Amino acid sequence: MSEPIPAEARPHGAMRSLTPAQRRQWQENTLHSPRLRYGIPARLLFRLEDVVFGRGRSVPKFRALEIINRVAYQAWEQAAYYLAGKLQERSARARQLHDTVEVDRAEQDNEKWHVLILDELEAAEGGQESWLRFRLLPQLIAFAVYQQFWLMRVFRPSWAYRFNADIEDHAEHEYAQFVAEHPEWDDRPFQSLAAPEYGTYDSLADVLRQIGDDEGVHKRISLDRLTRAR
Ligand SMILES: [Fe+2]
Ligand SMILES: [Fe+2]
Repeated sequence: MSEPIPAEARPHGAMRSLTPAQRRQWQENTLHSPRLRYGIPARLLFRLEDVVFGRGRSVPKFRALEIINRVAYQAWEQAAYYLAGKLQERSARARQLHDTVEVDRAEQDNEKWHVLILDELEAAEGGQESWLRFRLLPQLIAFAVYQQFWLMRVFRPSWAYRFNADIEDHAEHEYAQFVAEHPEWDDRPFQSLAAPEYGTYDSLADVLRQIGDDEGVHKRISLDRLTRAR
């Protein structure tokens, strides 16, 4: 049996806990709110993702997007250590940089549950997806996006936050529409290995709404950092 993980070391669950009715409300609001005006890096990435993973919304595509979208937080954590190490003195600025790592980690951990749930969903669908297209290419794109985020965070933090806000806004709207395309998911029970930490949900639609709301929280954190970086 594997060693039990102490409660305090357990990674974060959902970014905020909502009721099923609040999650439905999130979906309604998102479907009726305009998307951000995406910048060039985001538009290029979304176009590439449409070419590689297909234009329509599918479980394998959302799984690939989760693999790619989480690397911003990994890159920022690493960039913060680099920036803190470069400082001449251990000042409030150094402490502040280390504090950003905590938030980056919380978001990274949250994205990890998204990947696990999408992995489970993909396995349940039982499709035989191409290894090159849905396993290797997401990793390669994630690797390239990681470099982009590291460089932006070190040299132009406002670009990094803008790019990520676009990615998260895109993810939030895509989840809202994906669930809207599948009304049958409201009747499909949700069972997941993520449940002890990520929580229990009424249905598959309900948990996907929670994931979409998490992406909205990630977006707002980046927009908030963007205003402070300017
Ligand atoms: Fe996510
Ligand atoms: Fe996210």
